[in-house]
Amino acid sequence: METPNGKQETAKKNLVVFASGAGSNAQQIINYFRNSSVAKIVLIACNKPGAGVISIAEKENIPVLMIEKEHFFKGDGYLPEFQKLNTNLIVLAGFLWKIPQILIDHYPRRIINIHPALLPKYGGKGMYGQYVHEAIINAGEVESGITIHYVDEHYDNGDIIFQTACPVVEGDSPETLARRIHKLEHLHYPIVIEELLQKM
Ligand code: GAR
Repeated sequence: METPNGKQETAKKNLVVFASGAGSNAQQIINYFRNSSVAKIVLIACNKPGAGVISIAEKENIPVLMIEKEHFFKGDGYLPEFQKLNTNLIVLAGFLWKIPQILIDHYPRRIINIHPALLPKYGGKGMYGQYVHEAIINAGEVESGITIHYVDEHYDNGDIIFQTACPVVEGDSPETLARRIHKLEHLHYPIVIEELLQKM
């Protein structure tokens, strides 16, 4: 597309956010891209009725797709819905189910996840949210952090795109560590997403 001053204008990329928790990362991503020329959040996909992210989506006027287990894993993975929206990137932000093979095959290196620890440590099935922070504190770790990675058919396994660390301090509880981790996530996830989109 060409603008009146003759410059090439690249089309906005379409982002689908998968989230099933409170949605603080989803909210940050929405805020970051609100007036962006790079991307638009076209859909929030959620598998948990009543999740905080649903009211965020409603307030922000972003459509919500409620994901039903059988349809997701044994049906078409909702691929037609994502195709209809010309999805460029799927961003997991507190989404705890595995991603079905049909979506992985269709969106190679186009699905990313954020994990609240320095993978490969403290990843895998059952390692999410508070459980991760609890395990890190119980193990006496002096450092934690965040990992942004591509999604493949295994939990927390795909190539790492970005990591950054923070200290675990004496007297930390899972809640105080979670707060420190969330701050890192909110700061870095939108920027990493934007950088990936600009390379597409
Ligand atoms: C985030 O800390 C994210 O890293 C974590 O869930 C939280 C969601 O918070 N994801 C995982 O643990 C994935 N294994 P939010 O709903 O406030 O964005």
